[in-house]
Amino acid sequence: MEIKVIGTGSYVPERTLTNEDLEQIVETSDAWIRERTGIGSRRITEAGTTAMAVEAAKRALEMAQTAPEALDLIIVGTSTGDCLFPGTACEVQAALGAAGAACFDLSAACSGFLFSLNTACVYLESGAYQRALVIGADTLSKTVDWSDRSTCILFGDGAGAAVFERVEAAGGETGADGRKRADPDGSAGGRMQKTWGHESRVGPFIMKADGGRGEVLHCAGTPLRNPFIKEETGNKEKGFGYMTMNGQEVFRFAVKTVPEVLEALLEKAEVPPEDIRYFILHQANERIIAAVAKRMKQPIEKFPMNLERYGNTSGASIPILLDEMNREGKLARGDKLALAGFGAGLTWGATLLLW
Ligand code: COA
Repeated sequence: MEIKVIGTGSYVPERTLTNEDLEQIVETSDAWIRERTGIGSRRITEAGTTAMAVEAAKRALEMAQTAPEALDLIIVGTSTGDCLFPGTACEVQAALGAAGAACFDLSAACSGFLFSLNTACVYLESGAYQRALVIGADTLSKTVDWSDRSTCILFGDGAGAAVFERVEAAGGETGADGRKRADPDGSAGGRMQKTWGHESRVGPFIMKADGGRGEVLHCAGTPLRNPFIKEETGNKEKGFGYMTMNGQEVFRFAVKTVPEVLEALLEKAEVPPEDIRYFILHQANERIIAAVAKRMKQPIEKFPMNLERYGNTSGASIPILLDEMNREGKLARGDKLALAGFGAGLTWGATLLLW
């Protein structure tokens, strides 16, 4: 049994907001933003999260040559759905006509796609489902305080998607679990070596969270509105607000945890970093990515980036980059990819993918 990526897709809104545009609304400069973040522009949606998710999904399904009716599972990693309910995944299901799919959203902020991908693959691995559509879609533009220069320069909107399929390995011995095994000798120890062969497949993963540090990157939800709340609790004040962020804390968190989780994953999989063709990281800040590369003693060329054009698109950043690289022909069969995400929660994690 193996799990393959059979299609990728992405969508970013047409409307571009450049650093020069931001100079008109807050005290900032193109030079400052580029130097501190690497960001040159970002896209802003006028249609919302579901519309972007649907467009990315259609493109991924087209590449996968898969009909929406053939999907068993749709997971959308988002923290900025258009509605509190129904979930974005249900809205995507309706728009696509994927009547047979189980659908739910997964809220892990910028780690949303990565956590959704891992979740979907566990379902596929269990045999519960055959085909899953995984989407990362976010509209951070609606959470940003456009008068706060320390956050409004960072984020953009977008969506990315991938279709995963469970396939029985052709040939191969049957393992003790009764499943076909891709490597008949079964010599390798880690789950990745057992299943990483000649096809595009998902390897092991690590997911982490530290809920105790939620205030570092925070956005309150809808207010408590029932008439029974006592004023003195202060809970009535916890209304929907803007994003607040301790930028330096988030920066420190990212440059510490991302290399750590990548190193732990590579060790678990018994794969040296040199064997990784690309490290596809959450696109938050060029300096964070450069620091991770340095810490891992890997050349920066192995860390592709598109944040100059899109800024931080939260849960969408990894699948947008993956799709762009795929469509540009940059991914060759057999390439080992290490994906890593981090964000509010705090949440972070990494996954290995064999192309
Ligand atoms: N333009 C110009 N000046 C700005 C500015 C902007 N857009 N934003 C902040 N500044 C100012 C600050 O007010 C401060 O001025 P002061 O020294 O007079 O007080 C100065 O620049 C330095 O601020 P500081 O916060 O120390 O800058 P920094 O080097 O830490 O960069 C971030 C700020 C936000 C770019 C950086 O901390 C960062 O990228 N953090 C990670 C954020 C992130 O990725 N979040 C999402 C994670 S999923």
